[in-house]
Order: sequence, then C-alpha cells, then structure tokens
Amino acid sequence: MTHPEFLPIQWKSTYLELLDQRILPGKKEFLKLSTAEDTIVAIREMAVRGAPAIAITGVFALTLGAKSKSGGVTEKETLQLLSSVLESRPTAVNLSYAIREAKHRIQEVKDWETIAKIWESYGLEMMKDDLAANKALGENGVSLFPENQSEFHIITHCNTGALATAGHGTALGVIRSLRDAGKKVVVYADETRPFLQGSRLTAFEMMEEGIECYIITDGMSGWLMNHKNIDAVLVGCDRVAANGDTANKIGTYNLGIVAKEHGVPFYVCATKDSFDLNLKSGEEIPIEMRKESEVTQFDFLKDADGKYLFPEGKTSPLGARALNPSFDITKAHLIKNFITEFGCFPPSEISDRLKSV
Ligand code: MRU
Repeated sequence: MTHPEFLPIQWKSTYLELLDQRILPGKKEFLKLSTAEDTIVAIREMAVRGAPAIAITGVFALTLGAKSKSGGVTEKETLQLLSSVLESRPTAVNLSYAIREAKHRIQEVKDWETIAKIWESYGLEMMKDDLAANKALGENGVSLFPENQSEFHIITHCNTGALATAGHGTALGVIRSLRDAGKKVVVYADETRPFLQGSRLTAFEMMEEGIECYIITDGMSGWLMNHKNIDAVLVGCDRVAANGDTANKIGTYNLGIVAKEHGVPFYVCATKDSFDLNLKSGEEIPIEMRKESEVTQFDFLKDADGKYLFPEGKTSPLGARALNPSFDITKAHLIKNFITEFGCFPPSEISDRLKSV
C-alpha cells in the first residue's frame, strides 16, 4: 500500500487535498482546494490524473460547488455545475458515469445543503468501492500467471497505481498482488511521453514498494521483448468500447502491436466503470488533444513559483510544431484478456460478462 503521505486524494470535509502529480517525484506538495473551479483546473491541468482518480475528484469538485451555495436550488444551476466538471477531461468514461450518478442521486432534492451531503458521501463511497474493486482485480490478475513460476517480467505503460486510483491500482494492482502472493516481479515502466507518468510516477510507486523496476523509453519495448523473457504486458484503460477497442494513454497501441508480434500476452486491467457499451468501437471514443508545449518542452514541470524544474524546459527548437493526442485506441484483437474485479475474459465476452455486474 502506498504510504498515506502519498495518497493522491484526501477529503477534509471543508476542502480537498490533492497530491500535485505534476511535480512528483521532485516535490511532494499537496494542493488545498476549496472551490469547484480550482478543482476543475486541477483535473484539467493533471495535478490529479488516472481515470478512477479523475472521477472521484470530479465528485468532490461537485461537493465543493454545492457547499459554496445555500438555500434553494434550480435545475439550471445543478446542470451547469455538473457539466462544468464533466468537461474537465473527455476520454475516461469513469467521470461521465460519476456525473450521471451524482445527477441521479439529487433528483428530488431542493436545497444545496442536502445536495452537498449527498455528493460528499458519494465521493467517499466511490473511494471505498474503487479500493475494493482494485484489490479484487489484482487477485483475479494473479490467476493468469502460472502458479509454478516464481518470477515474472512485466512491461507496463503510464501510471495505473495508487496515484491513479483510490489505492492499490489496476495494472500496478496486479503487480502488487503478485508480489503479495510471494512472486518476484520485475517491472519495466514505459517512460510515457510526454507527461512522463511512467518514469515519474510508476517508478516512484515501485521504488516505494521495493519492487524492482527499470524505466524504458517508449520505443524500447520491441528490443526488450527480443532480449528478455517478458511474461506479460499489463496496462490500464480510460474507456473500453463494446467490441473491446480500448482507449488508454498514448503509446499503448504501439505496445499492443509489438506484444502481438512477439507473442507476449497483452492484458488490459479495467474496473466495471471503464466499459462504455454505448460505443460500438474505438472510433467513437473521444480523444483528448492536449497543448503542443507538453511535447516541445517540459512545460508542466514547474515549481510553485512557475519556474521550470528543467532549465527553460525546452527539448525542441523555438517555434517547432507538435501533435499531442493524449490517448490512443488499442484494437481489440491485440488484447488477450481484460482483467476486472468480476473476472478475466477476452474482448469477445464483454457484453455477456457485463450483464451480470
Ligand atoms: O492522462 P492520464 O495520466 O490521466 O492517463 C492515465 C491513463 O491512461 C491510465 O492508464 C488510465 O487512466 C487507467 S488508471 C487506473
């Protein structure tokens, strides 16, 4: 378990504390947020990130919004607040589900005080449920690895750990559960350009846990699969369409292709809130485009005074253009199994499996 000092989301009744993931691991600082507006900015600017953590933070943003008001409420006011939070990041479906549920829970309510209480307890409930789901997912994941083997070498992408969830994590949760089952795990963490979730956050979490971890740049996985015995690729996800096409951090698709080429099993770790059966295929999943400067310079790595943690932050010529799609779609045929809290299954079984949860 990640040390409580590094839990990403801590609700403090009158304000929200978020571990600022833009400046980890260089600095461990918490943002103290007491308005919905500031919390929305924190989501958009990725002080908090990872699909489950975004959804939980979104509900606390709603709570802070409701707490700042009093007396009677109109439908227009709640819809405005709900949609401002919903628009903070578009790709992960978890946030849309949370907003839909938050709306549903206040249908008959006429005053802001009661709404604030309902949303506050929903946020706390989400944290509890997410942790439990991750632990179950982790145990299910362990069952896919041969019992008689004592050591596993695993490639992962982005950060899917305690920092991206309410604790334990999804893909990193399986790794934690394997370790807890007495296995030795060696992790290869894709650096995950441009935001460096792998080198900054996954490596940080693995080192804290004492799990052997090597950072690789995003283009190294092919070499690795040729030169080391890689047992599996484990990734998280932001949205899974009905046919199994999966949106996850940019670079996941490339990893899926390389894994297929080398016969390495590619597993997507997902909780039930990752599936969006309203979408037939990945083509319908909205892909967030982020600002070019994340690619042309280490723009986000600034300290609290706005000073770059890297000198000037530049890694490209002045005026160079860039593309920055923040997610990509891994095609279903590249995925061997989804690992969920309700079992492990191939893309072809998604619809049937979801009927029972
Ligand atoms: O842009 P991010 O850092 O929010 O993207 C995170 C990912 O893509 C994760 O793999 C995904 O949200 C799953 S986290 C359990």
